[in-house]
Amino acid sequence: MEAPLIIERGKGSYLIDTEGKKYLDGTSSIWVNLHGHRHPALDHAIKKQLDNLAHSTLLGLSNPPAIELARALIRIAPKGLRRVFYSDNGSTAVEVALKMAVQYWQQQHPEAGPKHTFLHLKLAYHGDTIGAVSVGNIELFHARFTSLLFPTLEADPPYCYRCPLGLTYPACHMACLDPIEHILEKRHPELAGFIIEPLVQAAAGMITAPPGYLKRVRELCTRYNVLLIVDEVATGFGRTGKMFACQHEGVTPDLMAISKGLTGGYMPLAATLTTEEIYKAFLGTYQDFKTFFHGHSYSGNPLGCAVALANLKVFKNDKTLTRLQPKIKTMTRLLQPLWQLPHVGDIRQQGFMAAIELVADKKTREPYPLDARVGHRVCGIARRRGLLLRPLGNIIVLIPPLSTTLTELRRMIETMRRAIEEVPDAE
Ligand SMILES: Cc1ncc(COP(=O)(O)O)c(C=O)c1O
Repeated sequence: MEAPLIIERGKGSYLIDTEGKKYLDGTSSIWVNLHGHRHPALDHAIKKQLDNLAHSTLLGLSNPPAIELARALIRIAPKGLRRVFYSDNGSTAVEVALKMAVQYWQQQHPEAGPKHTFLHLKLAYHGDTIGAVSVGNIELFHARFTSLLFPTLEADPPYCYRCPLGLTYPACHMACLDPIEHILEKRHPELAGFIIEPLVQAAAGMITAPPGYLKRVRELCTRYNVLLIVDEVATGFGRTGKMFACQHEGVTPDLMAISKGLTGGYMPLAATLTTEEIYKAFLGTYQDFKTFFHGHSYSGNPLGCAVALANLKVFKNDKTLTRLQPKIKTMTRLLQPLWQLPHVGDIRQQGFMAAIELVADKKTREPYPLDARVGHRVCGIARRRGLLLRPLGNIIVLIPPLSTTLTELRRMIETMRRAIEEVPDAE
């Protein structure tokens, strides 16, 4: 049993524990940190905002950083997203999107009948609150709560390494989209939306969708009159190499959930972005009661919004996305030799997000039993060697801060390789 690690300080790509030991932050503190810990511009933004106001509610009021941030988000969001609704974490941003979709259909298109359920992919993860769990499908996390969940429709994900159809990309021509089209064609009258993690199903183990998959999903949703909800909580803010994953395929969703990197990993803040068309469905006289009744105590917190604004300024001033491109290529190159390790079954990468799937048998792709805790043991060794990772079962995930230097990246991947080699049964 590993002793608990108590993190006291951070600097750049490093976290430092109470004993003074330094660790590379290989998970970006669970996928939130972008520009490193203690970034001077982000530190300054919070301190400056604190001189004015720490918090006031967004229910019936607003605050300058929240207004300014909404404008800034619209400028960088996929074209056509024009409105911002704040909340305070990724799960709530998803809940907001689901509720907004259902209420939109009721108010704007009552003639469409009850469009109140959702289509989602198997192995999806959209958060831990009950609505988000309802549209999720990670057996280990979700099975106990089945009785609490609302019914949904599920489709197989584009998990090419373990293709549910037994096909191989690109010869398959993305045949996994056919059952999705079938569901949309037959069941669209009851579907409010199709919710998807664009390009990468992150918590499932960085399952990366083939190019063109998301665009096709957008076309199908439009054709069958079903809202497309993208959950950019993990993929947003540069992780995939563009500001938002949707932008790789020129896709504008009807609703988009963001959080995690929104504040550069400094404060809990989230938002759900939507189109003018959906926003308009919530306008009316007082007596119409078309209001979207959803509010959290800390929605649009001014400290969070101030640091989110500073985060976006750092993207611009430091040319974060431009400087990230060669790092993404280096990551691909450095991961290449790991294919040779006998228990590395698959290596998946999208932008600056990567995962290594460890398998008991490389030929048959037989997974390790979960209770062998191979992923956990690899991460334990990496930790002793000064790298913090976190496994998803037997999948090792590497999501470094975007500011990670090439030297740090090299150290991270070298440490990860040695940790995989050192684990008995995985060497
Ligand atoms: C795609 C996705 N959606 C939603 C969430 C939930 O976010 P939070 O943990 O902030 O509630 C996560 C968290 O990992 C996520 O990866």
